[in-house]
Amino acid sequence: MKTQMIRIDKDNFKIEDLSEAIAIIQRGGLVAFPTETVYGLGADGLNKDAAKRIYEAKGRPSDNPLIIHIADVKALDELTINIPEAGRKLLEAFWPGPLTLIFEKSQKVPYSTTGGLKTVAIRMPEEPISHALIKESGVYIAAPSANTSGKPSPTTAQHVMDDLEGKIEMIIDGGRVGIGLESTIVDVTTSTPTILRPGYITKEMLEQVVGRIDVDQSILDSQSNTIPKAPGMKYKHYAPQGNLTILEGNMEDVIQEINKITKDKIDKGYKVGVIGTDETLNRYRYGIIKSIGTRLDDASIARSLFSLLREFDTLEVEYIYTESFGEDKLGHAIMNRLLKAAGHKVIKVDSQNR
Ligand code: TXA
Ligand code: MG
Repeated sequence: MKTQMIRIDKDNFKIEDLSEAIAIIQRGGLVAFPTETVYGLGADGLNKDAAKRIYEAKGRPSDNPLIIHIADVKALDELTINIPEAGRKLLEAFWPGPLTLIFEKSQKVPYSTTGGLKTVAIRMPEEPISHALIKESGVYIAAPSANTSGKPSPTTAQHVMDDLEGKIEMIIDGGRVGIGLESTIVDVTTSTPTILRPGYITKEMLEQVVGRIDVDQSILDSQSNTIPKAPGMKYKHYAPQGNLTILEGNMEDVIQEINKITKDKIDKGYKVGVIGTDETLNRYRYGIIKSIGTRLDDASIARSLFSLLREFDTLEVEYIYTESFGEDKLGHAIMNRLLKAAGHKVIKVDSQNR
């Protein structure tokens, strides 16, 4: 199959520009499209065969459910059977936007879309191309992140092409995404709403709307044996090909330790990468050194995280060392993704103990 790429300016386009993409979705085909979080791989969410093709293209385990993307809250009447008060408040506050809510599913939603679960994940994206595609196709669009399963989520159309060329009908290139991390997932079927995946909408923001929020235990404690409630969170994910390690501790000690380890690895003949920040970039001495953004703006770090991991793949580095980040607010989502990418390899640097 030839994968067609079309370029659309998200701030200035006509519905006709999407007519071919709409036709593909309507006949059960696959179209990758931008959202404000990451690129999604879309297909008709109520069409079993179309959903099946998503799993094939991504190489995704079939017990890992898909998020259904909608353009109008009226869709909930058709897709869900019960909307709890907290769910209602959260969607009023954050939709359209980077928040996915878990509801009890209606009979209309096939188990092939929900990985056999009785619940369904629903999100209303804000990004204009995704909104128009859902609205004008008249289809509820099931869309996982448009990467090969296990790779970092795509934040540009080229990332999608690198992973899925020849496996899907079309990619809509709407430019680099704004947020760069997948949506926050909140289960509102539990008595206290529970965060299953941290994202741009933080715990603090959610709590302002509904009071108390729980966090799925398996996210908080990597050592715990609890099975994540979002099936996708159990897979090793976002993994770069190089061996990624996070260094934690006082900034000065971290910099010195990274310089020491990278020199050692390079002396042994390995290709090495370093992830620093705008603030520390000129302090590193060895390897391929890149900034992930500035510590003055967490959003800049979220935005480049996945593309930086992909860049190091392209450069074929064998070891990557990165600074760590605070776990408050957006830092919670950043560290969640970074820890998964590192397979939880963390070196705690403490000059006292050296
Ligand atoms: O930002 C996003 O959410 C992107 C864009 C494209 O919208 N989509 C995305 O989809 O990240 P995906 O499939 O890569 O991740 C969906 C996550 C998985 O971890 C999956 O297990 C979880 O949502 N999930 C889906 N349905 C669920 C359900 N009924 N209960 C619990 N977790 C669910
Ligand atoms: Mg994904």
